[in-house]
Amino acid sequence: MKYMTGNEIRKAYLEFFKGKEHLPLHSFPLIPDNDPSLLLIGAGMAPLKPYFTGKLIPPSYRVTTSQKCIRTGDIDNVGRTARHHTFFEMLGNFSFGDYFKKEAIAWAWEFLTEVLQLDTDKLYVTVYPDDEEAYSYWHDMIGLSKDRIFKCKDNFWEIGEGPCGPDSEIFYDLGPERGCGKDTCTVGCDCDRYLEIWNLVFSQFNRTAEGEYKPLAKKNIDTGAGLERLASVIQKKESNFETDLIFPIIEKVRDICQGNYDDPQQKIAMKVIADHLRAITMMISDGILPSNEGRGYVLRRVLRRAVRFGRLLGIEQLFLSSLVDTVLTIMSDGYPELREHEALIKKVIETEEKQFSMTLVQGMELLDSLIAEASKTKTLSGSAVFKLYDTYGFPVELTEEMAGEKGISIDMDGFATAMKEQQDRARAARADVVAKVLTPDTTALNSAELIFDETATEAHLLMLGKDGQEVEAAHDGETVTIILDRTPFHAEGGGQMGDTGVISTASGRAVVTDTKVLPNGILYLIATVMEGYLKTDTIVSLAVDTERHLALARNHTATHLLHAALRRVLGNHVNQAGSLVTPERLRFDFTHFSPVTTDELYEVETLVNEEILKNIPVTLAEMSQAEAKEKGAMALFGEKYGDVVRVVSIGDFSCELCGGSHVHSTGIIGPFRIVSEAGTGTGVRRIEAITGKAALEKARQDAICLQEVAHILKTQSDGVVQRVQQLTAELKDKEHELQQLKKDAALSDMESLLAQQEQCGDVSILVAEVHCDSMDSLRELADALMDKQHQGVILLGMVHGDKVNFVCKVAKNDTKRGLHAGNIIKVAAQKAGGNGGGRPDMAQAGGKNTDNIAVALAAGKETIYHILK
Ligand code: ALA
Repeated sequence: MKYMTGNEIRKAYLEFFKGKEHLPLHSFPLIPDNDPSLLLIGAGMAPLKPYFTGKLIPPSYRVTTSQKCIRTGDIDNVGRTARHHTFFEMLGNFSFGDYFKKEAIAWAWEFLTEVLQLDTDKLYVTVYPDDEEAYSYWHDMIGLSKDRIFKCKDNFWEIGEGPCGPDSEIFYDLGPERGCGKDTCTVGCDCDRYLEIWNLVFSQFNRTAEGEYKPLAKKNIDTGAGLERLASVIQKKESNFETDLIFPIIEKVRDICQGNYDDPQQKIAMKVIADHLRAITMMISDGILPSNEGRGYVLRRVLRRAVRFGRLLGIEQLFLSSLVDTVLTIMSDGYPELREHEALIKKVIETEEKQFSMTLVQGMELLDSLIAEASKTKTLSGSAVFKLYDTYGFPVELTEEMAGEKGISIDMDGFATAMKEQQDRARAARADVVAKVLTPDTTALNSAELIFDETATEAHLLMLGKDGQEVEAAHDGETVTIILDRTPFHAEGGGQMGDTGVISTASGRAVVTDTKVLPNGILYLIATVMEGYLKTDTIVSLAVDTERHLALARNHTATHLLHAALRRVLGNHVNQAGSLVTPERLRFDFTHFSPVTTDELYEVETLVNEEILKNIPVTLAEMSQAEAKEKGAMALFGEKYGDVVRVVSIGDFSCELCGGSHVHSTGIIGPFRIVSEAGTGTGVRRIEAITGKAALEKARQDAICLQEVAHILKTQSDGVVQRVQQLTAELKDKEHELQQLKKDAALSDMESLLAQQEQCGDVSILVAEVHCDSMDSLRELADALMDKQHQGVILLGMVHGDKVNFVCKVAKNDTKRGLHAGNIIKVAAQKAGGNGGGRPDMAQAGGKNTDNIAVALAAGKETIYHILK
């Protein structure tokens, strides 16, 4: 066995199967295409399902891939075993009705023993008990002795709906020192000794949504070999985490926290962070952004978990995005698209980590208060633990640990129930999506003969589908999928909405509400019959809603111009992170690190309008991927492109791979206006803009608004700015004047108040009812009066809302005479239905009986005289 890097193993695998006439395909994106039963791709076969079931014709009957996979079902095991991951790469070779068990077994053995040169003595296999055929290939063809072949009834592989069947697994014996030592330890034991390195699935059934197993017309092969596991064997490492695919990330984490990888707790945390970071990087690169639902939620959860484990290692600062470079160095060999999204990946991680750090503080506060509340029961309820887990991203073990420190346990059963309830809700939500209309099997159709023709007004109706089943006719009120031999309807894709319109025949009429495309390029319409019925094998008249179509085309071409203009004005780090093209407006998300300034926005808008005014022809050309790359065409993530791609060019200004609708020349776009620019909260900026009639309408509305303002200001439109400036200046002067008047009034109020002063011997006494707008200003007034009076007593009262407030001040020197502000105010406040007290020199109080204010003040005054006598 010779040493190979992870990248070398991946390459050797794809080359080996290429040599066996397999078509190597690039990994499919992590976001499933057209498969609502899956949230994320979790196996090499998942994106190939329609080829297995025969719904689509594959590009080749033998295919090989290294597929990016995410599985979060075992997230709690990550870092605790040698082999669990959230992200991993699955090497696979696939046969769609071509070769079967014999070749799959022979080639797997050849690759393991001849290419990777694994020691044959260390290899074991399992087969499904009834699968005599697989047994005999292992025994007779490969020559494995009986004690190396295990019959195991668990050897049946399935993932949700779709192809499944008995399987045969290959194990590598890592030696007794890695085992549990039990007498029963053998192939299939849960311990780390026998490592499953490859699964050969003989897919011969299709599992339906109802749970039925229907035999497939053609037998298939689906295999999966975990790249990280193969690397751990070849590189002779204790676990997948020490291989060159992951360990450099762990080393970086160790440097950051100055930790110790040999410490068991720290080791787990470092492994979790490295694993999660790979998942996060790959998900963002495929266009997933953090959110509170679906895939975005998976990303958010994994990212937060990584931050939490960082805290366990004592890392308080933001650190995740600084690990991305290491992931890219390792992974971009197999997945070059990662480099294109480098800036986006870092920015999204940094923003999310920053936000979570703030949430974390709140979560800790909540946890502290929950722990305090639980001091009697000594148990944290399942729903509380779930809330911390779900809302604040606290791993359960962390809550358990922190509660444990305070002698409090957690209700694990309650937590499991809350978790299950959430999973049921998620499943129900997915089931709703599954219920959507999908087309029937289209393999009988020759996609090359189906034509997209913008000018078509008639077509042959080839196929009608209802809930995925082919039907002959569709009647009033029914919603169906329709496939035509030619169609002028443009499909949804690349962020652009699909075309709508009307289909009619002598027998009926249907409204087309959307147009979509299958992975093999076949377009289908979604339509609801409004009158009569539609029948297959008839000629139908077609009418696209052209007004809407043109509005979509304007906004789509304008999106390309906007993208190119942003790169020119802001820099080449600008990359598309998402887009939406509707008839009303366009929305463009892109990577940029700060808000776009008004000047920059103006520059971008001007540049786009200049290109529109030049009326540049928009050219569409089909070419190979390589040619498109040569031309510098920009490709977007998450999109799959076949060998032949369509390049949309606008002079020298813009060149992008795109399958969407476009205007023939830029002049048709009409005016272009940016209506908003904002952050999306995920490190991505978003611009919304309008074109054509919408932009004209907006300009008209703005003009009307300006006219109205001019009318109110009694001037002309062009005099509005001057008039507003003049009014603002006048307002400022008036405010100034008002302040001055208020001051003067306050002074004269003080003068008249001081005139009410009485003398008792040499002590000045001022008792008065005043009007202030707050307790603060009442106090300030008392202070100001004491400044003027220098000595003696001041007692003020005011009615404020439905309350009476009092303030009493006694000059420091006069407190020696027995004058006590607290005592004086108490007498007054009691008369007004309140109470109060305070220091000898200063007190404040309140009461409820506003009518008694005069009586209260008189009582206060009497008390003062009484003390002085
Ligand atoms: N589809 C099989 C698996 O994922 C090969 O294990």
